[in-house]
Amino acid sequence: MQEAKEAADQAAAQLVEDGMTLGLGTGSTTTCALRAIGRRVEREQLNVAGVPTSPAAAHTAREAGIPLVSFDDLSVENSTARLDLAFDGADEVDPELRVVKGRGAAHSRERVVAHQAERFVALVDPSKEVDRLGTQAPVPVEFIPMARAPVTRAIERLGGRPALRTGKRKDGPVVTDQGLWVIDAHFDEADADSEAGIDDPEAMSEALRAIPGVLDHGLFLSEVTTVLIGHPDGSATTRRSE
Ligand code: A5P
Repeated sequence: MQEAKEAADQAAAQLVEDGMTLGLGTGSTTTCALRAIGRRVEREQLNVAGVPTSPAAAHTAREAGIPLVSFDDLSVENSTARLDLAFDGADEVDPELRVVKGRGAAHSRERVVAHQAERFVALVDPSKEVDRLGTQAPVPVEFIPMARAPVTRAIERLGGRPALRTGKRKDGPVVTDQGLWVIDAHFDEADADSEAGIDDPEAMSEALRAIPGVLDHGLFLSEVTTVLIGHPDGSATTRRSE
């Protein structure tokens, strides 16, 4: 699917205009998009700047030659602190442009950036399209480590199968950019009462956020304004909420 990702990323880079302030997402798809944007910045001498959603995104943007700013910097110059355009990846997207994010555990900062953006563009390949959220990807829940046991039980009560996210090349739990931990809530198994996936994503979003100790989760239900779907033949299709 690398060709498909690159097709979405090339289409994303074409949306950037001189003078824009950008939101810079995290993940393998967005990394590729940041490089494509960086090439345009250099070639066309575009005057843009971006707010990164993670240290990883900041690193990629620096390497790509995209100047970085923070919301504090923007507040000084511009009282609304709005971003013209934010790009990010997604793990699932449903027909209503609701998405699951957070495979890279950056979803809490990604939501902050998404909410400051006039347009929030999700970059995906066709494998991310689902009919029901939760059928392919778990919903990550970022929380304070001392609350692990009650958060785990609360997710079970909501019908999820909780799995503490652990490091691949480091022992122990994944520690987020905030110093917190992540439980992946799986909803991909059907049972006698319901089919696989999340029946009511809005209710689930509210219920997960209401668990004491939870910072944020990966259900983004109203933020996405555009989905760019890259295809293996190099083309890209656009789905808009407007
Ligand atoms: C980062 O935490 C995530 O939200 C990613 O943006 C999302 O998981 C998509 O990642 P890929 O582009 O690597 O599939």
